Amino acid sequence: MAKFDLVIAIDGTAASGKGTISKKIAHNYSVPHLDTGLLYRFVGYKVLKGFDPVSAVDQLSMSEMEALDLKTLKVSNAASEVAKNPLVRAKLLEFQRSFASQPGGAVLDGRDIGTVICPNANIKFFISASAEIRARRRYKELLGLGHSISLNKVLKDIQERDERDTNRKDSPLVPAVDAKKIDTSDMTIAEVYASVSRVIESELKK
Ligand code: DC
Repeated sequence: MAKFDLVIAIDGTAASGKGTISKKIAHNYSVPHLDTGLLYRFVGYKVLKGFDPVSAVDQLSMSEMEALDLKTLKVSNAASEVAKNPLVRAKLLEFQRSFASQPGGAVLDGRDIGTVICPNANIKFFISASAEIRARRRYKELLGLGHSISLNKVLKDIQERDERDTNRKDSPLVPAVDAKKIDTSDMTIAEVYASVSRVIESELKK
């Protein structure tokens, strides 16, 4: 447990491994974790059910969010679409900031954590990997969850999301200038974790 409020921002591309790493950090340093992609997925899911995006944010419920299957490609695309909407982003901002300001700190992962949500985070990472490698990882994950899908469809989906997330006007996916960048294409989860924990340990010693 850190002696100060430890806020760690982890941004990166879809299926880069940032979620897995964030969960491991949160567990090992005993800080709560928020997967901010789930917030956008929840809103995207509600939009697919016919709600307008802004009223969908008002329905945000952590318990419902945890109960829904939000990892499908349909929901991923809907999330990435609603994430372009500045009203949706503005409404989700306070929730994310208040999560980050808990006593003891927090780990948040997403696309704009180090740049917009927590610009003063103690430590920032930007995790990426080639689109082909990410597609293969996500494909295996979806098969494991019982989804029937082709690798090509997953790759196309990732490329389209990268394009939308990177080129939107409001809070696009860009590394914060002070983020430590890690390309996980040729790394195992254990190697990525070893690399991030070296950075965290050296920060904690300061
Ligand atoms: O991390 P994810 O793949 O679950 O995120 C789903 C979508 O939500 C992603 O394509 C873009 C959007 N998102 C965002 O715009 N900002 C965030 N902080 C997190 C996710």
